[in-house]
Amino acid sequence: MRRHHYVLASLCLLAVPALAQQPIVQTPGDHPQWTLTAGATSYVLGVNNVGMVQSLYWGPKLAANASLPPAREHPERSSFDGPLMTTPLEYPAFGAGLFTEPALKLSSPNGDRTLVLLYKSVNVTPDSLDITLVDKVQPIQVHLLYKVFAQQGIISRSSRIDNFGKAPAVIEQAASATWNLPAATDYQWSWLTGQWGGEWQLHTEHLHPGAQLIESRRGSTGHQANPWFAISRAAPAPDRTTETSGPVWFGELGWSGSWRLTVEQTGLNALRITGGYNPFDFAYTLKPGESLETPPFYAGYTSRGQGEASRILHRFQREVILPTHPDPKPRPILYNSWEATTFAVDESGQLALAEKAAALGVERFVMDDGWFGQRKDDHAGLGDWTVNPTKFPHGLKPVVDRVHALGMDFGLWVEPEMVNPDSDLYRKHPDWVMSFPGRQRTEERNQLVLNLARSDVRDYVFSFLDQLVSENDIAFLKWDYNRNWSEPGWDTAPGSTPAHPNPTAEKEIYVRYVQNLYDILKRLRAKHPNLEIESCSGGGGRVDLGILRYTDEVWPSDNTDALDRLLIQDGFTHAYAPETMVAWVTDVPNFNGRSTPLQFRFLVAMQGALGVGANLNKLSPAELAEAKHLIAFYKQVRTTVQHGALYRLLPPQNSESSAHSESSAVQYVSTDGAQSLVLAYLQSQHFGLAYPTLRLEGLDPNATYRVRPYTPAASNTAASPYEGGQPKRPAYTGPETVSGSVLMGAGLDLNLHGDLDATALILERVAP
Ligand code: DGJ
Repeated sequence: MRRHHYVLASLCLLAVPALAQQPIVQTPGDHPQWTLTAGATSYVLGVNNVGMVQSLYWGPKLAANASLPPAREHPERSSFDGPLMTTPLEYPAFGAGLFTEPALKLSSPNGDRTLVLLYKSVNVTPDSLDITLVDKVQPIQVHLLYKVFAQQGIISRSSRIDNFGKAPAVIEQAASATWNLPAATDYQWSWLTGQWGGEWQLHTEHLHPGAQLIESRRGSTGHQANPWFAISRAAPAPDRTTETSGPVWFGELGWSGSWRLTVEQTGLNALRITGGYNPFDFAYTLKPGESLETPPFYAGYTSRGQGEASRILHRFQREVILPTHPDPKPRPILYNSWEATTFAVDESGQLALAEKAAALGVERFVMDDGWFGQRKDDHAGLGDWTVNPTKFPHGLKPVVDRVHALGMDFGLWVEPEMVNPDSDLYRKHPDWVMSFPGRQRTEERNQLVLNLARSDVRDYVFSFLDQLVSENDIAFLKWDYNRNWSEPGWDTAPGSTPAHPNPTAEKEIYVRYVQNLYDILKRLRAKHPNLEIESCSGGGGRVDLGILRYTDEVWPSDNTDALDRLLIQDGFTHAYAPETMVAWVTDVPNFNGRSTPLQFRFLVAMQGALGVGANLNKLSPAELAEAKHLIAFYKQVRTTVQHGALYRLLPPQNSESSAHSESSAVQYVSTDGAQSLVLAYLQSQHFGLAYPTLRLEGLDPNATYRVRPYTPAASNTAASPYEGGQPKRPAYTGPETVSGSVLMGAGLDLNLHGDLDATALILERVAP
């Protein structure tokens, strides 16, 4: 066996007092071991007796003086399950008898398609670890990169693969990390799936031997699944995981391109979770001296249930990921024109909407699709990012100036990565779209995808956006993306030419496109530091921790029906922070034919970053007055919703049985604990059953809180059929001040009746 050496970059690690809990502690020696501690979790890995790096522990935080036995390769179980099937490797490569999902698969120039990665060295800083592995035979080196976010309770992992040989090698599969959990038969996993208009559907299932995978092959994150997972336990109580207790191992990828996440229970019942670039149609050639880095894969652990897992992620996103971290600016209340006018935007129409929006208390006016080129519908114009002179004869300035005079800032819709064949850009540069020679270019929504992997396309996209933002006083871009890739060809990729195409080289499009997308966003934000951006992809098709490093918020779904939104928003918050979740109040009946009361719609949209998308020209004076009243209410609780801790008191999925009324409730507690907000909904009442008692969370049991129920607008004269047609009873008739211990123990009773009733309560800490 080779002799290992390691580099201690930070000698201060050795000088740490024995009991201090450092984010990274190294046990030196020929077989070093590292303990990473973040929040309430510890993660331990070490070099084993045969020089491979293996996982040793991931779970509740270990005591500062705790030590684990040295890493040892596990014995083979039989000739069919050798040591690589029994040993939980940190970054398993295909080779030497690995039959589960590899983190790395690579072909070397001499035809060797296997790797055996052995520990070579380490570079440790107080919060990061860079472990170098090297193949036994090939000149291939892999860096395992770890970063510990100790305050937020998150560990980030990624890898970098280097070719230090003299000939190119081809990576066929590269994950960011494999996370291991020991053998057990009661694991369950939760994941999110969906489709356009129905994103963020939460599933939880018991795991059995075999692999489950979620992925996108589409070139972007996708509506169909999200790169998030949570592993929990289906054990009998008290070990069973619930919303409020029990173990959860969770993680999410920071990548906005094709991705894959494999949750694999081996035949020996161990769990391996591997995620990163999707190996489908993937190849990346490493020329001599070149490297490929994989996206970050963030993970954490809690023993306090699914709710706490979400809160850890929300805090991490706020304090580490979002572009204005660690203290993101509150999301302004925006108005968006799309559902009111679709493509029929023009100067007078937008000005009329802006006047009405400002009167409601809206803070940002966003003009959606239709303002540019020959854009009358979705058949033309994408690519021609100049103002349509018929719709805006004086340019954007009069609209922007008036919006400012009304006290709002101005936002604009763009879809920079797309082109309609009916556009001047496409007529000039038909070679700029993804395509394969001689094959029809499949249109979706009458548009094609520009190949952002090309540096000329990247530069064009940056320059038109830069010009647009420089020439107009634009505070916000809604960055849309309305189709997936169908012909991901790139015949001018480095190493490929139209005369001599190289399909392997062209497959780098999956990596290079997204890298260039991030590059544009990064440069744009650097040049325009006050610009804010929303990630939209026909709703929630591009939401992940990669895009959220450059965008302040996302549009979770084109579905704005309040009942569907309860489910969509609940699923969304398992993985992403409420402040990133834009929610508009729109007109009824919604696209699905359903009508819900205005107060109900507003209280649903208040779960995240409130917006309005209704056609304000159609609202009656009473509805406008009610909308204004509700917006003023949201302003009182906005910081608590957006920066506080979210508790899902009553998830909407629980309302499965017809014997139950369908009800749902969430609670937010401000970071200083001074304010809490409860939003409660009765979607549908059966048998006149009382609304479930809500046991609150996250309060101080020794404090007293004043309960301030939402008072409906005077213009809302809705009567309840359950009360003989009389005006509704107040939703809360309990005492004005209540102890935190009572609110969390006995709970709150609310008078919600009939279908589509909803209310809100503000709790203010009054003593001590
Ligand atoms: C899809 C988005 O999700 C909508 O909100 C809207 O911006 C349309 N595109 C505009 O074409």
